[in-house]
Amino acid sequence: MSAAAKIRICLATIGALLLVIVAMGYKFFVAGSTLKGEDGRVALVLEPGERALMLGEMREFVAGLQRIAEALSRDDMPGVAQASRALGTAKTHDVPAAMMGKLPVGFKILAMGTHRAFDTIAADAEANGTAKHALEQLASVLKNCVACHASYQVTTASTASAQR
Ligand code: HEC
Repeated sequence: MSAAAKIRICLATIGALLLVIVAMGYKFFVAGSTLKGEDGRVALVLEPGERALMLGEMREFVAGLQRIAEALSRDDMPGVAQASRALGTAKTHDVPAAMMGKLPVGFKILAMGTHRAFDTIAADAEANGTAKHALEQLASVLKNCVACHASYQVTTASTASAQR
């Protein structure tokens, strides 16, 4: 085989490998693992344990909102900060990498934005922010809850295949 042919084969192999890497990166960071849900929303296809983890975090959101509302009603800004911080970005470290790869990019952006907003509420409450300011921030972050629930639902692989 000539040197030129060897180089061509080598370049073709590198090209094919790059394509595989780009395709895997797209699947992992952008597309995730989804189906079209029956009600028109995008259904995230997760393992039962991953679904349970996600729904458990959602219930923590509600419990946290309850604590924030109660602290706000007492003008207890350190209490607002503490309850908000518990819903902040530190929470996202609990999500395993394999599960991250199944979440579409739009979902991840909304999720991160929501956790970050709670960090901001906590920081502002600590920096002598008023209860009214925190309430405005809360009204705004609640829009993320509404928007995400309007777009996504979660199912498991076995439920999804049983429906097919
Ligand atoms: C990035 C997307 C996203 C955001 C942001 C989000 N959720 Fe969810 N939430 C979901 C999905 C997906 C489900 C599953 C819905 C389904 O399958 O019908 C869910 C389910 C829930 C449930 C049901 C839990 C259960 O045990 O069944 C509650 C409660 C909930 N979310 C509360 C909240 C609250 C409160 C917020 C805002 C602070 C919020 N969520 C923000 C995606 C999100």
